[in-house]
Amino acid sequence: MKKIVMLVSGRGSNMVAIAQALAQHSWPAQIVAVIASRADAPAVAAATRMGLPVQVLDARGIPDRSRYDQTLLTLVEQQAPDLVVLAGYMRILADEFVDRFAGRLVNIHPSLLPAFPGLHPHRQALQAGVKVHGATVHMVTRELDSGPIIAQAVVPVGADDDEQSLAQRVLQAEHRIYPVAVRWLIEDRLIFSGQGAWLDEGSGALQALIGSEFTGHDDI
Ligand code: GAR
Repeated sequence: MKKIVMLVSGRGSNMVAIAQALAQHSWPAQIVAVIASRADAPAVAAATRMGLPVQVLDARGIPDRSRYDQTLLTLVEQQAPDLVVLAGYMRILADEFVDRFAGRLVNIHPSLLPAFPGLHPHRQALQAGVKVHGATVHMVTRELDSGPIIAQAVVPVGADDDEQSLAQRVLQAEHRIYPVAVRWLIEDRLIFSGQGAWLDEGSGALQALIGSEFTGHDDI
């Protein structure tokens, strides 16, 4: 059994999607801890409802950033995780943390990276007038919203879209790709080559969700 630690700050819908997929498909992994950076994050209640072990490390209680970072590192390390999953975790991780969990630290960002990193990606997409937008699952490196890309989901942008409608469409796609990417990581199915992370089956097309299905693949 691989051990997964999840870091959350907000709603927790990606956490729920991954936890449900794990439970439904009996993947060889378990969530050993959900760590929340806010006590009032809806993710805390959602994790509790699902019977997941939750710990709160509220950033407001530890204003000193380096002490917070050190405490987080210790908490996560205690779990000896095979995989650390950022699921709407809205704090910048310390370089030491990223280095310690290099190769087992994964994030989802709601844009087609490298486009629109950082804050307000949906607003950035609307302002740019792009016709497609989406989400990216990627390994975490020191550089923000960077690192080898594992999977991407593409959604259309319409003339009537606002930030909220676009975010909602992207979020639904996130819930499709993140559990799949976590499964690939659990099963050690990714090959890291060049700038990317490639599925062992060899076609990057399998790693793109366009429309409702992963391209060319129906059993994911
Ligand atoms: C998701 O849209 C996720 O992609 C985004 O926060 C949201 C969390 O939703 N993450 C980032 O912007 C990280 N840079 P959730 O709490 O319902 O999973």
